[in-house]
Amino acid sequence: MYRTHTCGELNASNIGQEVTLAGWVQTIRDKGNLIWVDIRDRYGITQVVGEAENVAPELMQQLKSLGREYVIQITGIVAERQSKNPNISTGEIEIKAEKVTVLNAAKTPPFTIEDETDGGEELRMKYRYLDLRRNPVKEKLLLRHKASNETHKYLDSVGFVEVETPYLIKSTPEGARDFVVPSRMNPGEFYALPQSPQTFKQLLMVSGYDRYYQIVKCFRDEDLRADRQPEFTQIDCEMAFVDQEDILNTFEGLIKHLFKTCRGVEFKEDFPRMSYAEAMERYGSDKPDIRFGMEFVNLNAVAQGKGFGVFDSAELVVAINAKGAGEYTRKQLDALVDWVKRPQIGAKGLIYCKCNEDGTYKSSVDKFFDQDALAEWANACGAEKGDLLLVLSGDEHTVRSQMNELRLHMGTELGLRNPDEFKPLWVTDFPLLEWDEDTQRYHAMHHPFTSPKKEDIELLSTEPGKVRANAYDLAMNGVELGGGSIRIHDKALQAQMFKLLGFTDEEAQEQFGFLMNAFEFGAPPHGGIAFGFDRLVATMGGSESIRDYIAFPKNNAGRDVMIDSPSVLKTEQLDELNIAVKASVE
Ligand code: AMO
Repeated sequence: MYRTHTCGELNASNIGQEVTLAGWVQTIRDKGNLIWVDIRDRYGITQVVGEAENVAPELMQQLKSLGREYVIQITGIVAERQSKNPNISTGEIEIKAEKVTVLNAAKTPPFTIEDETDGGEELRMKYRYLDLRRNPVKEKLLLRHKASNETHKYLDSVGFVEVETPYLIKSTPEGARDFVVPSRMNPGEFYALPQSPQTFKQLLMVSGYDRYYQIVKCFRDEDLRADRQPEFTQIDCEMAFVDQEDILNTFEGLIKHLFKTCRGVEFKEDFPRMSYAEAMERYGSDKPDIRFGMEFVNLNAVAQGKGFGVFDSAELVVAINAKGAGEYTRKQLDALVDWVKRPQIGAKGLIYCKCNEDGTYKSSVDKFFDQDALAEWANACGAEKGDLLLVLSGDEHTVRSQMNELRLHMGTELGLRNPDEFKPLWVTDFPLLEWDEDTQRYHAMHHPFTSPKKEDIELLSTEPGKVRANAYDLAMNGVELGGGSIRIHDKALQAQMFKLLGFTDEEAQEQFGFLMNAFEFGAPPHGGIAFGFDRLVATMGGSESIRDYIAFPKNNAGRDVMIDSPSVLKTEQLDELNIAVKASVE
């Protein structure tokens, strides 16, 4: 046996026992005749002490020769500690060393393995296996494990069956680019890695597995952000003989269970719901952060027609009331103007109006708007003394999205986005289609199997852009945690949908013929949802970055800097695959 106990296990009740621990050297404090070594494993840290008075000189010498991150085994007697450390579970005791064995020496790590490390992101990712030894990272992986385990338990308890689906498949319709894999046995042909198991889970419904789930890897070749990785994990689910209400209720149950068991957070009320149209109007986002108000106020009626051309020519003039920010200095306001002008936001400018403590108003457009006119703005926004109104204008779509960014930014600046507060919101009634200017055609907003609302089916042939879908998302704290829909299970309607999306019959048959054919063999009504598991766990942990919650993540360029991937293939390997790399790339 390498060890009798872990490094997080011993306490005052063990005093007097002889124990053996194994782990990594965290710190060494050498006071000459007295030496302390902290030994660490996954479970905690235990202090070991060597006193020249009581131990053989060889043992003292051995203790002194240890280095940081050496793997050691140590045997000794548990004793009460002189100066106790109430912050750790083993803080009342120490081990009086009797025997030390070095199981493996270690090079000095390139950064300190401490909660607050001196290693930058790039270095920590290169040595991710060392980074994973650190407590904050470990805690995140443990949260992930717990959430995964509780997901299995919960879904099993309500009758879901886990079925694995293949990774080497053909293109899935989630709207991103596919990662592809060449097939050696089928020269010139490629598999695509699944963007999600969407078509397979629908086939499983045809097969009669009416409650399917899988915690599964998905692959999407898209631009990366803090909440996007090229490979990520979904809790993917599908149900047959259900309508939207059944799905929302079932998965609200899952999310409540996970927050309760993994975070000790209980949602007593039903999750609120909001239509897509309302979310866009009130927050300019289909995943609004409703931890704070600062809702959009349409100022068209009070701000247009006063001779200010920028507003007069705009489709929408919209304001938010940053409560209590009336104290912002000129410098702070200028910084906000610069912030909205950054290319990522792209606004041409920002108009503000301070509601002064003396009841007057100070705006950046005083030339066009007198005190009475500004009072109308304030009135429309429900503003009081000490508030700050921020106004953007332009075409509706663009200005809403810019104002959404500004609202979130102000929410952060004013400390309104508490990471320990969780505000879920079901967003429903998404549009079925969205118009794409570049390709001059409709795209499925969710995916092409999403069913239109019954009452809107007639609009499909007249005003497709107005058709709403039986599609829903779960948003929380400004993050899209998951989304799904009720599917089309009727071949004729599916064919009509493909036509609208600009697929010819042949293209539809080639890409999704297997699914449409399956629908001719008795497809039950069905629908489902998938949660982004990395996002769910990161949100639970109060973080916006999913990378910290993935053991071996990729950087923003899609690279794994630890294993140095992607990498170039050898000529023989390329030959075997019948692949030539373009000279321009080489
Ligand atoms: P969707 O494409 O909305 O739906 O994906 C579901 C959820 O997966 C998460 N997600 C991501 N997480 C990290 N990195 C990414 N690149 C990434 N892309 C998506 C999000 C998202 O809400 N098949 C449908 C589901 C269905 O209809 O049942 C689907 O995949 O949290």
